[in-house]
Amino acid sequence: MDFHGKRVLITGVAGFIGSNLADRLLELGANVISVDNLFNGRLENLDIALKNKNFEFHKGDIRDLNFLLDLFKDVDIVYHQAAFTSVPQSVIMPNNCNDVNVNGVLNILNAARRMDVEKIIFASSSSVYGDTPTLPKREDMRRLPISPYGVAKLASEAYMQVYHQVYGLKTTSLRYFNVFGPRQRDSPYSGVIAIWLGRIIRDDDLIVFGDGKNSRDFTYIKDVVQANILAAEHDAPGEILNIGANLPITLTELAKLMLKITNKEHLNIIYTDPRPGDIIHSYADISKAMELIKFKPQYNQEQGLKDYFKWYINKYEIELQIN
Ligand code: UD1
Repeated sequence: MDFHGKRVLITGVAGFIGSNLADRLLELGANVISVDNLFNGRLENLDIALKNKNFEFHKGDIRDLNFLLDLFKDVDIVYHQAAFTSVPQSVIMPNNCNDVNVNGVLNILNAARRMDVEKIIFASSSSVYGDTPTLPKREDMRRLPISPYGVAKLASEAYMQVYHQVYGLKTTSLRYFNVFGPRQRDSPYSGVIAIWLGRIIRDDDLIVFGDGKNSRDFTYIKDVVQANILAAEHDAPGEILNIGANLPITLTELAKLMLKITNKEHLNIIYTDPRPGDIIHSYADISKAMELIKFKPQYNQEQGLKDYFKWYINKYEIELQIN
């Protein structure tokens, strides 16, 4: 698709995924209209985008329909990335999670419908599968979420499909599998890779929740951005697509790999109680995305980790040697 002259709206643009997507769309020549309430998102993630004349930023909340209606005028594509993102936090605050991740999605869909938006691409999550035993996870499998967060993402995907079937909106949900990379920060509610990188930098041991056998299909941000671009280029209306690296790794393997890459093998891996709401294994079958939108991941975890760590070291001027 030629993005020149296209008006593309991104919600959650100041977040880790939204901001990376904005930079890429601007490179491709799109006009990017963007929204963030700056609750989790940070303006520093928009350092590059804010210098671009084709970028427009609005501070506001996706739960405010009138605000959305104004912004959605003449928009061609909406990327809905704004979300309550933490699984453990959703266990503590299920209502807040539902408010943002379900009511917020309905607002987006209603605004898109009223303003005739051509296409909506939604950030869903592998958490919808829960702990069903079959691996890898296929889109047509049973979904049994085991956290309020997973329930909310499942409900939102269903709304995406129904708004396609009932109102004809072109909606596509991308089920992300543990995304990591530049702009992911070390905070208690961040993903495990960012948290462990922070600990490595402070020379702290790595803490594993559970026995270390939990596995995840960690997916590098550049591959997720690529999937979003492809979902705009290829029509997959009403579809749900897994977006993962297709390379599962256990937490113990990940911890060892991170220690090796950073020359910190003297640090220990400490095992503690499992975290409530956690699923055990997550591993994506990506054949549907490969077929429908021609998705093909380019990064394995080691390449992605090295790329991310180098970015982090450079950005925060940290002394750490990467192998
Ligand atoms: C992550 C995302 C979620 C997304 C989902 C699927 C974050 C914060 N959450 O959830 O938005 O929908 O992937 O794409 O990015 N762990 C440790 N030690 C730690 C921290 C975590 O052992 O210090 C473990 C957890 O118990 C879990 C695994 O690491 O077993 C992954 O946890 P986390 O990175 O928080 O991701 P998910 O909960 O899978």
